[in-house]
Amino acid sequence: MSRKQLGVVTGGAFNAGLTIRLDPDVSSEAIHIGDFVIVEGDENLYFSMVSDIQLESTDVRLTADPPVHASPLIARALRGSLTYATVQVKPMQMMPKAGPDTLVVDMAGPQPVRTIPMHLAMLAEATESDFRAVFGDEQKGKQYFAMGTPLTMSIPICLNLERLVERSNGIFGQSGTGKSFLVRLLLCGVIQSGVAVNLIFDMHDEYAFGKESEDGHFVQGLTHLFGRSKVLVYSLDKDAASRGGGRSIDRILQVGLDQIEPEDVMLMAQELNLRGTAEATIGLLEDRYKGGWLTRLVAMQPEEMDEFCQSAGAHSGSLAALQRQLKIVARREYIIERGTFNLIDEMVHNLDNGQHVILHFGRYDSPLDHMLVANLVTRRVRQLYRDKVERYEQTQNKADRPRPLVITIEEAHSFLNPAVSRQTIFGTIARELRKYHVTLMVVDQRPSSIDPEVMSQLGTRVTGKLTEERDIEGVLTGVGNRSFLRGALESLDTREQVLLMGHAVPMPIIVRTRKYDDAFYAAMMGSREQPPLSASDAIRELYDF
Ligand SMILES: Nc1ncnc2c1ncn2[C@@H]1O[C@H](COP(=O)(O)OP(=O)(O)OP(=O)(O)O)[C@@H](O)[C@H]1O
Ligand SMILES: [Mg+2]
Repeated sequence: MSRKQLGVVTGGAFNAGLTIRLDPDVSSEAIHIGDFVIVEGDENLYFSMVSDIQLESTDVRLTADPPVHASPLIARALRGSLTYATVQVKPMQMMPKAGPDTLVVDMAGPQPVRTIPMHLAMLAEATESDFRAVFGDEQKGKQYFAMGTPLTMSIPICLNLERLVERSNGIFGQSGTGKSFLVRLLLCGVIQSGVAVNLIFDMHDEYAFGKESEDGHFVQGLTHLFGRSKVLVYSLDKDAASRGGGRSIDRILQVGLDQIEPEDVMLMAQELNLRGTAEATIGLLEDRYKGGWLTRLVAMQPEEMDEFCQSAGAHSGSLAALQRQLKIVARREYIIERGTFNLIDEMVHNLDNGQHVILHFGRYDSPLDHMLVANLVTRRVRQLYRDKVERYEQTQNKADRPRPLVITIEEAHSFLNPAVSRQTIFGTIARELRKYHVTLMVVDQRPSSIDPEVMSQLGTRVTGKLTEERDIEGVLTGVGNRSFLRGALESLDTREQVLLMGHAVPMPIIVRTRKYDDAFYAAMMGSREQPPLSASDAIRELYDF
């Protein structure tokens, strides 16, 4: 494989990077900050990034008395003798060469850099196969998923989905940077590769069905791309059950008042405008009525409230306020008096079978509904996963091993801000890493509003443009080489450019996001196993899509 030679190493240090003198026929303008290059040492290839470009001269007379009227011909003739350019490059990954005289990359793959090459090692342009060797190749394994291309090249940059689902992850960026599109891409990658199953809280009705994008196109939902046998839609909105146009749902989810726990109510404290005394009052109610505390509270008549306040020592004003506020919750159509966990248990059973579940909020798309339902459902799901993992540890039978589960939540700060993250199930999942085979995909505009302790646990971060200093600090919590990454984040375009960093990529890199368009759908649909259509599915396909 031949690479275009650009120059040779003339100096450097492990920490500061390598200095390379450019060959006379290579213009400094042919090199850009952030370009990827290869330095060929005797034993290793160093996949490196250009961090600085300098102009030098060998004769002080040239700088003291430059020949300003010299023709371009003379300027060119001086290049390499009196004038030259150097570039600073930072080795990011090293790959052992297969043998001393060959440039074929060894199978061991890229590794963190632990040494530097000697003087006169050659600097060359990175080729497509170098990128494939470092970032992986969709053709080489289903775990590699192309997320986009480097800004100046059209080479696919992959992330490793197996590594992605091993830890909780974050998708960040201010409004309109393309977070929801990134989530669609990543979910498609995970579904197509089968590395994990997904539970998606589709708060803004974006993932299950088609949706119009800002530039006026209709984009496909996951149910269309993967079929209803792979992606199930549970909805809170019973009116959604009668919808046509490919937007039908599979199950209607209802929540019992007796399933709501004090933790859920406290999470909604701000939304419900609860007083500071609410927690203590709930504690007293729980002491008396156990699991039925909320059902009892919303049904209480004034006399019963008076009696309760006297005997339990509750404050009557607080109790009345709490009742008033929780009646708002009880009035939701999807709330019933007594609920069962049957549907959530069935949901987990479907996840076990390799199906993916989208929880659709329909009309109930307020933060209050989102927080209540996502927390309650996730608590049950995590409990079932915990039981499964304990069973698997006992039997050590491969068949009992739970499939890794990824739970996607938008507006994640509602669950993971510093005030609540210690109490919510989402905070627990983020902290316990993948102990119970459950990880999170956290989506948010404001990484600064997420508990730094949770941020530092996120394995992979995909970040679009952020302008607020606090958010940039937040997204870089717990990562090294911050000054370089900060510069990279600041340089992003406002749309469709992201910085990939962390566990699923060998090194941080900026990419132009892959388009979620017809070509992408074709790639996903092409890989979809086609199960035989049932008669009802066939009719739906025929008339709805
Ligand atoms: N990968 C992509 N393919 C096609 N279009 C994209 C892509 N990424 C972003 N866009 C365009 O950018 C617009 C904004 O993207 P998106 O809705 O994902 O933003 P967002 O970050 O989720 O915003 P918000 O925080 O307001 O939800 C889209 O409507 C679409 O037109
Ligand atoms: Mg969005």
